[in-house]
Amino acid sequence: MADLDGLKVAKDYHVDTPFANQQGFYVKGANSLDWGMKKHLSNIFDPKSGNTVMFAFDHGYFMGSTAGLERLDLLLPKLAPYVDCFMGTRGAIRACVPPEITKAIALRSTSGSSMLQDDLSHEIVAVDVEDAIRMNADCMACQVFIGGDGQLESIDNLSYLINEGFRYSIPVLGVCAVGKDMARTGRYFKLATRIIAEMGVQIVKTYDCEDFEEVVAACPVPIVVAGGKKLPERDALAMAYNVIQKGAHGVDMGRNIFQSPHPEAMAQAIRMIVHEGATDAQAWEFFQDAIH
Ligand code: 5RP
Repeated sequence: MADLDGLKVAKDYHVDTPFANQQGFYVKGANSLDWGMKKHLSNIFDPKSGNTVMFAFDHGYFMGSTAGLERLDLLLPKLAPYVDCFMGTRGAIRACVPPEITKAIALRSTSGSSMLQDDLSHEIVAVDVEDAIRMNADCMACQVFIGGDGQLESIDNLSYLINEGFRYSIPVLGVCAVGKDMARTGRYFKLATRIIAEMGVQIVKTYDCEDFEEVVAACPVPIVVAGGKKLPERDALAMAYNVIQKGAHGVDMGRNIFQSPHPEAMAQAIRMIVHEGATDAQAWEFFQDAIH
């Protein structure tokens, strides 16, 4: 065990200095990866903006049928034109995403908990990597509970998927999950996202928080931001704008799109912010025009 005495709190994040090791390829931290990994990352992150709009609809893996996701077969084709990547379970993707929709796939690859339990932090790897290959998954998503009860098994799941991912050139998306006793502070997310990145993932998913720009600066791979619980549309757009301004490379948003009464307009408004440099005010104006 390393000696923890005398450790200093990190403070010099150089938030205004761009990531340095970026020659040759546009995705943060991916410079030294092989062609296959880079190809998958290019499917996820738009080469022009460098960012991604992921649509998360994997909630059923622990919540069952969720408000807004009752009919994935109807919803997903409608949203497809406005998103870059679908994030879901293999059951939902195989059954409800027509294969001719040429969007990237983020395959939810861990499972094991449900809303009926008190502690959601214990998961297993639920998908064979061979099946991720069969599905042409562009990344495998792994839930990671740093500081929670399930930390060790999370790291075990994550390490397994990263090792297999390197074997077959499939990126891993580490989903920074917040255990029920953990506070959503900048300090926590700095710790958790950095641990996940150092394990070897190619993408980290986390939440907005204070000092978010420092979380981004200290994370050597792209961060995508979860939407979290449903907010008024205007607030969700402001959140998306703020995190993009602070260096996030996109969103991986679920409820703030699919629980809006106007999911297509919301996805388009988010897209304007993530890819076109629109402000939240411009995206809100678009949203209001689109729904009237
Ligand atoms: C579950 C997830 C979800 O995909 C994530 O929560 C994104 O959805 P939302 O924007 O609704 O929070 O990773 O662990």
